[in-house]
Amino acid sequence: MSRTKPTSRFIYLSLTLLLLFTLSTSTLSSETGDEDSEGIEELLALDEEAEREEHQGWSEASARSSEAELLTKAQRIVVELNGDNTKKVVEGNEFVLVLGYAPWCPRSAELMPQFAEAATSLKELGSPLLMAKLDADRYPKAASLLQIKGFPTLLLFVNGTSQIYTGGFSAEEIVIWARKKTGVPVTRINSVAEAEEVLKKGHTFVTGFFNKFEGQDYEEYVKAATADNEIQFIEVSDIEVANVLFPNIKPAKSFVGIVKSEPERYTTFEGTSFEKEKLLQFLEHNKFPLVTKLTEINSVRVYSSPIKLQVIIFADEDQFQKLLEPLQNVARKFKSKVTAFDNSMSSKYLLESDPTPSNIEDFCSRLLHGTLAPYYKSQPIPDNTDAVVQIIVGKSFEDLVLNSPKNVLLEVHTPWCINCETTSKQVEKLAKHFKGSDLVFGRFDASTNEHPKLHVQDYPTLLLYRASDKANPIKLYTKSSLKDLAGSINKHLKARDKVTKDEL
Ligand SMILES: *[C@@H]1O[C@H](CO)[C@@H](O)[C@H](O)[C@H]1NC(C)=O
Repeated sequence: MSRTKPTSRFIYLSLTLLLLFTLSTSTLSSETGDEDSEGIEELLALDEEAEREEHQGWSEASARSSEAELLTKAQRIVVELNGDNTKKVVEGNEFVLVLGYAPWCPRSAELMPQFAEAATSLKELGSPLLMAKLDADRYPKAASLLQIKGFPTLLLFVNGTSQIYTGGFSAEEIVIWARKKTGVPVTRINSVAEAEEVLKKGHTFVTGFFNKFEGQDYEEYVKAATADNEIQFIEVSDIEVANVLFPNIKPAKSFVGIVKSEPERYTTFEGTSFEKEKLLQFLEHNKFPLVTKLTEINSVRVYSSPIKLQVIIFADEDQFQKLLEPLQNVARKFKSKVTAFDNSMSSKYLLESDPTPSNIEDFCSRLLHGTLAPYYKSQPIPDNTDAVVQIIVGKSFEDLVLNSPKNVLLEVHTPWCINCETTSKQVEKLAKHFKGSDLVFGRFDASTNEHPKLHVQDYPTLLLYRASDKANPIKLYTKSSLKDLAGSINKHLKARDKVTKDEL
């Protein structure tokens, strides 16, 4: 959790994870035949039997059984699914949360202890949810029965029908989500001692104070709690208990507020009516701390937030510790403003000066007022003297392509694209062939350069910018032979000449 250096690789991983969780959400046809649900103990016994039988046939039996002895109590609470029991377990229980994993998959290994810990907590809370895991690599048939297609996959089965898992990936978040989906969207707190237990956990939660647990406000609160996927909702009707969770609540009317474990600890919902949508919106805008440490576990939540104006600071742990407090101060100044700013943006901006708090503050302020120039990647402008094919970078694209009086044939490539090298060779030959004409050749590496007026999705791409119409480059077919390419270049250039001459 203490990872502070989000790299693009790590971002990629998180997105992949999201994809996996989304992919694996198909419904399983349910045939709920079994009236009598299997108890957890019975299932465990069944597993042990299956395991014993298996051990007799396996050469690494002893290794496995000592491994089994090492299993903690927590892991024992998670039922192990296999080729024989999967259907029975999933269809014979009202609520089953299944973790599909592969032993070799690091993401699975990371999730497993969180899952086991969640199982223990849920059991202690008396949850009706059965937690089960399936080695989808070893039991592919069972995996395909449950429609598990990637690792790790979490699926909730309600009376045999699967439901997408939309919660977070820490033990606590799994517990919160599971309870919301199995009939306990709100936790009722009745005593000061219970309230103190909640505070001890140090997580984000929502406090709802209601004189009575009924009426419109309360119903909307419960609806919001059910719809939200990650935050614990608490309900209190005793004002003394409520004030332990959130100070200065007035007993006269209903109250909702969010509590976080950071300098900006308490935020009150100021809306006049407790509508579900308004409550959820309030949460979206207030659930993140002033400064969020981006981790693999939370990055999906951060990127999917409706707050699109996000300032990301790349720092190592030491720097981050030093910067945290000043950053929180900067964040506090911008918080309400940024939350009001709610459109979707895809531009990037780069702070080019030292990331000191005052520079960051200035940067945020200009970002908010729209006076920052978007950032586009560019390599330094190279020396192109004597180059047959000019190297064009983000910063020189405007001058060398759009504003150049010549026709330009631009090859857009990336170092990793499969056919780029072949095309590059062709372009070099073409450049030699057309040498001395008013057609110049350029090469643009799209992995390290960007320009707002260059939109290319596939690589390689060949674009012919005619001098007479730079705004509408012609896309040439890259798979053509050298001869066809030369022919088509000539055709396009001549056609244009002809039109201009005719116009004259
Ligand atoms: C699951 O099925 C049982 C038996 O038909 C039913 O009583 C129960 O309400 C169902 N649970 C859910 C969450 O639909």
